[in-house]
This record gives sequence, C-alpha cells and structure tokens, in this order.
Amino acid sequence: VSPKSFLLNPISLVSNEMNTLAKNITSLIGSGHPVLNRVTGYYFEAEGKKVRPLMVLLLSRALSEIPLEQRNRIAIDTKDVPEDPIYSKAPSLFQPPSRGFSPLSILHGIKPLNPLTKGPEPLEADFDKERGILPKQRRLAEIVEMIHTASLLHDDVIDHSDTRRGRPSGNIAFTNKMAVLAGDFLLGRATVAISRLRNPEVVELVSNSIANLVEGEFMQLKNTSVDEELITFDKNTKTLPPVTSRTLPVGHDYKVPSVANTADISHDKIIELAFEYYLHKTYLKTAALISKSCRSAAILSGAQENVINECYEFGKNVGICFQLVDDMLDFTISSKDLGKPAGADLELGIATAPVLFAWKEDPSLGPLIKRNFSGKDDILNTAEAVKKYEGVAKTKRMAVEYKDRAIQNLRAVLPPSESRTALELLANAIISRRK
Ligand code: FPP
Ligand code: MG
Ligand code: MG
Repeated sequence: VSPKSFLLNPISLVSNEMNTLAKNITSLIGSGHPVLNRVTGYYFEAEGKKVRPLMVLLLSRALSEIPLEQRNRIAIDTKDVPEDPIYSKAPSLFQPPSRGFSPLSILHGIKPLNPLTKGPEPLEADFDKERGILPKQRRLAEIVEMIHTASLLHDDVIDHSDTRRGRPSGNIAFTNKMAVLAGDFLLGRATVAISRLRNPEVVELVSNSIANLVEGEFMQLKNTSVDEELITFDKNTKTLPPVTSRTLPVGHDYKVPSVANTADISHDKIIELAFEYYLHKTYLKTAALISKSCRSAAILSGAQENVINECYEFGKNVGICFQLVDDMLDFTISSKDLGKPAGADLELGIATAPVLFAWKEDPSLGPLIKRNFSGKDDILNTAEAVKKYEGVAKTKRMAVEYKDRAIQNLRAVLPPSESRTALELLANAIISRRK
C-alpha cells in the first residue's frame, strides 16, 4: 500500500496546498551551502506520509466552516506571512542574517517589518480572507513537517537506523555529524518561520513542542517505569507525590508518574504506572507536536476557547493513536514494507505497549524489561510473550479507543463538513496503515 493510496481521499481536498507545501519548504530551507542543502533536502525527496501537515490543513479547512458570528473576528489571523528575501532566495555564503531591514530588502522593494506591531486589524474589506485556509495556517503546516523531519534525522542517529522511507537513512547516506547538523539547521529555519508567524501564543506553543520532542526522547532513553531513579513513593501515606514534569502554560500535558519502592506496590499498580509513563512519553515524543499545531490552527482561526481545547485534544488523541500503531507495526511488518528497520524497539531495549500488555499477564517479564532485553534470549522470549498474550491486538484496541476519542473531539465542536469527514477518514486510515 503506497502512502498515496493510504491518504487518497483526505488529500484531494487540500491537494493544492499539499503541492505548494513541498515548494515552500524548499524555499524555507535553502542555504548557501550545497552539501548542507543536499542533506536537509534528503528526507523531503522521498515520499513521506505527510500526515501532520495534512491534519493541520484539513483541520484549518474544517475550522473555516465555523460561522464567523461564532468566532472572534478580531482574533482571526488573516495576515500574510512576511517573506524575507534573505531566507527565501537561498543566499550565497556568509551573508549577514536579516534583521527585517537590510540593504537587500530595499533592493527587493520589501518594506521593513516592524516586529512590535502586528499590523492593522482586519477590515470589513478583509471579510473574504476570513474564509478558507489562512496563510499562517499554511505556513504552520510547513513548519510542522520541518520540525518532524528534523526530529527524524536526529532519531535515526539515536536509534542507529540504517533505512528511512525505503532508502539509506541520513546518518548512513551522509554520516552522523552531517545528519545532526542538518536536523539542527532545519530546526533553526523552522524557528525563523515560527517567529515570522508573529502570533505570540502560536510561537510559544510550537516552540514548546520542539522541547517536548526532546523530553519524550529523553524519557525513552531510560524506558523503565520501575527505574529506582524515578521513584519517590511515600511509604507512610502510600500516596504518589506531586508530579515533577514541567507543564505547559495551557496545562494539558500528561504528568510523569513517580512511585517509590516497587517492592511495596502490587503488580497491577506497577503496570498502571508503566502505562502512564509510556503514554506520557508517547505524548511528548509524538503527540505534542501535532496537538499543539492543531491548537495553533484553531487559535489562528479566531475560534472560541472550547473549540481550541477540543482541537488540542483531537491532536493529542490522534497523535497517541499514531504512535501506538507505530509501536504495533514494529512487531508485525517487515523492514522491507516499513521502509525502516522493523523489530527495532526490542533491539534498542525499549518496551512499548505490546510488551507492557504481555508484562501485565506475565510478571516474570519485569526483569527482562528492566535490563532492557540485554540478557541472552530476552528479545526472543519477550517477542513470544507478546504473541502469547496478544500484545499486538490489545495495542490495536487501545489505538482504536484513542482514535474514537479524537473523532468525538471533532464532532463536539466542528460543524459537519467534507473536511471534518476527511479528518475522520484520516484518523481511521492511521489505524489500518501498514507503513
Ligand atoms: C520517531 O520515533 C521519533 C520521534 C517521534 C521523535 C524524535 C525526537 C528527537 C530525536 C529529539 C530531537 C528533536 C528535534 C526536534 C531535533 P521512533 O524511533 O519510535 O520511530 P521510527 O520507527 O520512525 O524511527
Ligand atoms: Mg527511530
Ligand atoms: Mg526513536
């Protein structure tokens, strides 16, 4: 199944936007260094699923169906994204960075930007601009794909992966050093593009999602919920202490479970905490980017608070669903079909949902998980337990629950429209995807 047919229906509604997406990203990542250009452009050349920008664009389209009387018209961000010739025209080497006002911008007849003002509020004449996908929502879709691609370049270094999208991964094709630097460069340019959205709330949300990716990846480095270092259970009161995780201004992030002496806790409680830890990690690593982008798309549309919140929850649920399926496919699909290493998680010592479901039924898996499957036959025995206790099917059921919740979030606040239906189709396609 090609990624195209996987997304066939939903794509057709925003096919123009998806076409300009690739073009615009190319102009956002142009540098004066030809080798850097090759590495940063490498993952964009291979056909990815582009599910994140697709979500942002379809959600933006669905949000535009909310009648204007039900939106805060002053808050609708219809303004164009300011372009900067320095960045969009692939400057030659050693050009100074633009401060919004440069000799070059005069040459190009571009008015200098005043970063302190957001420009005039929309006039009645701007009425038509308030409909459909807004320029800043398009740019948001591009930014999301850039951040995601940066994280893949780094992820393949961390995971020692040798393939991605059916080709040698960036680290293999260009070396670890270049892959890391290219990821950093993409993040740098994404940050420029974020700041150019000139919307403080959106800038904060999207910037924070970058930090969340790293937090999630860090939690995965020590992927054992029963790790003593995480554990500070109060033996006297038998209660869990307050969470230690940094939370966001919107206050929606999951909490890190922290429990003490595992000897004092029942197996059921350990499993509960292990899932809590896993879901928190999953939120940070995968769902934060899409959920905060969905929230941002809603903010840009001038939507009311309850709509903004449901869009955020939609992104969170669909993001967790996406990673649950990813963790399932790692057990079920071959490397050839995935276009990236399969069976990688156990090799990397990472216990994902299918393993946690097996551990629930077979407590003797605990020590194997704790030593990150480093013992002889640990991987084989764990894979067998996953099979025996139907860890994959249970993970799929869990993914379906998150998908159903995501669809409820949409239906709670968005009027019926073809875009809303397309989002539902997309959510369903995430469950049945095979790559
Ligand atoms: C893929 O997971 C990886 C992520 C979803 C996030 C990776 C984040 C980082 C490496 C932190 C650095 C972040 C930035 C923004 C540079 P996976 O390894 O489970 O999936 P895979 O099978 O596709 O490799
Ligand atoms: Mg990986
Ligand atoms: Mg990884």
